[in-house]
Amino acid sequence: MYYKNYKIFPTEILLFKQEENEFDLDVPSMIQDIEEEIQQQRHIDNGAVPVQSYSILWKDDIEWCGKQNESWKNLQQSFIRCCEVYCEVCWGLSPEKFAILHTNSWFYKTDSSLWKENPHNHFPATLSGIFYLKLNGGDKTVFYDPRNVSNQLKEWVFIPETQENYWCIFPSHAQHSSMGTQTDLPRYVIAADAWLQI
Ligand SMILES: [Fe+2]
Repeated sequence: MYYKNYKIFPTEILLFKQEENEFDLDVPSMIQDIEEEIQQQRHIDNGAVPVQSYSILWKDDIEWCGKQNESWKNLQQSFIRCCEVYCEVCWGLSPEKFAILHTNSWFYKTDSSLWKENPHNHFPATLSGIFYLKLNGGDKTVFYDPRNVSNQLKEWVFIPETQENYWCIFPSHAQHSSMGTQTDLPRYVIAADAWLQI
């Protein structure tokens, strides 16, 4: 798995590029699963785009139309692998020094009706990830320097060069948001959190 390390601010972001079919992801069927969830009104419905699901994507114990789709399990494995590499590369932790106790995941679908998402973080998780499933020319992710209290100054933001099939892994405390997207085609990303014992 190829990765690029961005040393920014007091933290680091790793961008992972999956080798072709490295984790056997069937992207069209994953998007079909997401659309089925939305059609069946099982997403978090606040009456607007963006559309976000509950943390269901790789759970077996609740009804979720994609549970027979191995791609979701494979995506979970790829997320876990990326977190392991992050621990080693960014925190200098050998495998016996940490354990990944739990992970969860949800989808996030947007189009041009979303101008900009508010900055937020995923605390109290330890590591978080965004997987760019289908961008359709859509937006990237902005990270904010924690030393900038207003989160608005341009020189205090960082935008990784994300592409489809990439995982962006970062500490869960890092403030981030989706940039506004100009295209009418939908953008699908998968978000994930990991809780670690270190
Ligand atoms: Fe987020």
